[in-house]
Amino acid sequence: MLNDIKEILVSESEINSIVDRISKQINEDYKDKNLLLVCILKGSVCFMADLIKKITVPCAIDFMVAKSYYAGTESKGEIKIYKDLDVDISNYDVLIVEDIFDSGRTLNLLVKKLSERNPRSLECCSLLDKPERRDPDISLKLKYTGKNVPDEFVVGYGLDYNEAYRNLPFVGVLKREVYDK
Ligand code: IMP
Ligand code: MG
Repeated sequence: MLNDIKEILVSESEINSIVDRISKQINEDYKDKNLLLVCILKGSVCFMADLIKKITVPCAIDFMVAKSYYAGTESKGEIKIYKDLDVDISNYDVLIVEDIFDSGRTLNLLVKKLSERNPRSLECCSLLDKPERRDPDISLKLKYTGKNVPDEFVVGYGLDYNEAYRNLPFVGVLKREVYDK
């Protein structure tokens, strides 16, 4: 598995300091709120698990599985929810926890969908951000960002390629030859 990694982009210790920093901001920003953390499966599983251990304000957690579909050059996409939330979010300050903000389409459609359910507030947090890849039509902003990464395919710490590499403890760039064959 390690042989398939070109370079480590976010080391274990850097991940720890990102989690520390973001959890402190959340503890400050949500102290008088009713926080619900929504983990987008499966990629956010490691980030979510580490984050909640550092959160000291009362919070509930829930999970979603969703995929976005864009046909051709059409700018309007659709989101399909494979696993929906268990809770009614109308009483909650919802914070979506994502692994990576890439084109931004998935998160954008998810925010639209969840805002129809009238949460008290709705914000997004992503471990990684690939700003170079953003769809120019998307104006959604993250409230919390772990780290900006270049336009390369990354795996590890929850992120996969064909379901592999999620169990690496760091985020690394996958060698091109692994997916170009
Ligand atoms: P977006 O809708 O283009 O922002 O991307 C949504 C999803 O694509 C992310 O939540 C990831 O699951 C996946 N993704 C995007 N870039 C990468 C990557 O570099 N490695 C692994 N998964 C990625
Ligand atoms: Mg994902």
